[in-house]
Amino acid sequence: MRILMVCLGNICRSPLAEGILQHKAAKAGLQWRVESAGTGAWHAGEPPHHLSIKVAGLNGVDISNQRARQFVQEDFLHYDFIYVMDSSNYIDVKHMSGTLWNESKIDLLLNELHPGENRAVPDPWYGKEDGYHKVYEMIDKACDKIIQKHTQEVRGTKYELRSKR
Ligand code: 4NP
Repeated sequence: MRILMVCLGNICRSPLAEGILQHKAAKAGLQWRVESAGTGAWHAGEPPHHLSIKVAGLNGVDISNQRARQFVQEDFLHYDFIYVMDSSNYIDVKHMSGTLWNESKIDLLLNELHPGENRAVPDPWYGKEDGYHKVYEMIDKACDKIIQKHTQEVRGTKYELRSKR
C-alpha cells in the first residue's frame, strides 16, 4: 500500500498522520509506504511544526526528519490512496488534480471512524499545545482503523488482506 496524507501546510496535521500510520504499519509487519504533502507550498522544505514533533515524540513517534512538500496531481498515480484532513483540503486537491482526479482514491481521514460524516481534523496551527494532543488522538484512532481494515489477526499475528482494487 502506498498512502499519502494531505493537509494545508504539511507541517502540523499530515506529518503526524504520516508518522503515526508509518509507525503502526511497521509494527504490524506491513511493507507500506506512507508519505505526506500540503496543498500549499509556503512551508516546502521545512521540518514539521515543533509542537507536532514534540507531541509525536511524547508518543514514541519520531517525525523530525520529515520535510514538507506541496501536493502534485501526479500523486494520484503514485499512491493507492490519499487521505485529507478536512473538506477544504479535499476541494483544493480536486482543483489541483485536473484529469488525474480520482474520487475512488481519496477521502477525509476521519471518515474511517465516522463514515460519510466528513468530520475535520481541526487545524492546530493557530492554537496551543493541547490542540496538537487532541489532533494526535484523532489521527491515532483513524490510523488504527486503517490498519484494522487491511489486516486480519490470526493468533496474535497480523496478516495483510489483499487489496480489493
Ligand atoms: P497544517 O497546518 O495544514 O496542519 O500543516 C497549517 C500550517 C501552516 C499554515 C496553515 C495550516 N499556514 O498558513 O502557513
